[in-house]
Amino acid sequence: LGVPMYNVLDDALENNYAVPQFNMNGWIWLEAILKTAEACRAPVIVGTTDKIVDQIGGFRLLSESFSIMKEEIGLTVPAVLHLDHGQTVERCMAAVDAGYDSVMYDGSKFSIEENIENTRKVVAYAHKHGVTVEAEVGSVGGTEDGIYSNLLYADLNECRTLIKETGVDSLAPALGSVHGKYKGEPNLGFKEMAALRESTPVPFVLHGASGISNEDLSRAISYGHAKINYNTELNIAWSQATRRILEGNADLYAPMEILKPGKEALKETVATVLRRTGAYHQV
Ligand code: 13P
Ligand code: ZN
Ligand code: NA
Repeated sequence: LGVPMYNVLDDALENNYAVPQFNMNGWIWLEAILKTAEACRAPVIVGTTDKIVDQIGGFRLLSESFSIMKEEIGLTVPAVLHLDHGQTVERCMAAVDAGYDSVMYDGSKFSIEENIENTRKVVAYAHKHGVTVEAEVGSVGGTEDGIYSNLLYADLNECRTLIKETGVDSLAPALGSVHGKYKGEPNLGFKEMAALRESTPVPFVLHGASGISNEDLSRAISYGHAKINYNTELNIAWSQATRRILEGNADLYAPMEILKPGKEALKETVATVLRRTGAYHQV
C-alpha cells in the first residue's frame, strides 16, 4: 500500500477533515500507530525527524520495517512514511532513496530565496520518484528534538511565491503554532489562514498541534489544514504511563511488563486524535 501523500491529503481537504501525522520515537510507536489506524479505519502518517532516523538505525531500516510491519498487520488503511523537518536537501534525497513516501524540507532557518531554491531541488528529485514534498514558510516556534526556533509568522506573499515557484504538494505556513507545550494560550492566525486559503488549493499542514484546543483545530481544518502534526501529546501519554508502572512497582524489571502500559497509552492517544481530526472511519 504505497499510498502517495497527495491522495490522503486531497481526500481530507475535499471532505473537511485532517490526517494526523504521529511522530515515532521508538518501534513501540510504529506498532501502536499502525494498529490503531487500522482499528479506527483511518488514514495515517508516521513522521520521523532527522534525529530519530539516526538514533533508530537509519532511513533504510525504518523504510523496510515500515513495509514489513504493514504486511504483518495486514494493513488495509492508507499509511504514509514521512520525513519530518528534513534539515538538508541531501537528507530529503536519502529518505527518497530509501523508499519514504513523503518528505518535508524545512528551510525555515534560511532566507525565503534560499528556502525556495532548496525546496525546488527536493521537489525535482522527490517527484521523479513519486514522493510528495512539504515545505515550511515562516518558523514554527518551540523545541523539537533539541532544535529550538523562535516563532516567526509566515509572510503570505512568501507562501504564495514558494508554492508557485516550487510545485510543493503541501505547505506548513507558520501561523502561531509551537512545537512542544504552549506557554499561555495558542494564538493562531486564522485571518491569515483564511486569506491564504483563498489564493491556493494546496493543502496546509499544522505543526505543533499538541496543546491546541479542539475548537482551534476545527477552525484550522476548515481553512484547509489537511495534515496535523502530533508528537508531544503522545510522548506525554507514554511517559506518564511508563512512570506510573515504574513508580508503583519498585521491584519490576521485566521489559515487556514495563513497556506495556506505554504502548496502551500510545494507542489510546492515537485513537483520540483520529477522532478529533475527523480521520476516524474515513476509510
Ligand atoms: P507537537 O510536538 O507540538 O505535537 O508538534 C509536532 C510537530 O509539529 C512535528 O513536526
Ligand atoms: Zn513540526
Ligand atoms: Na505544541
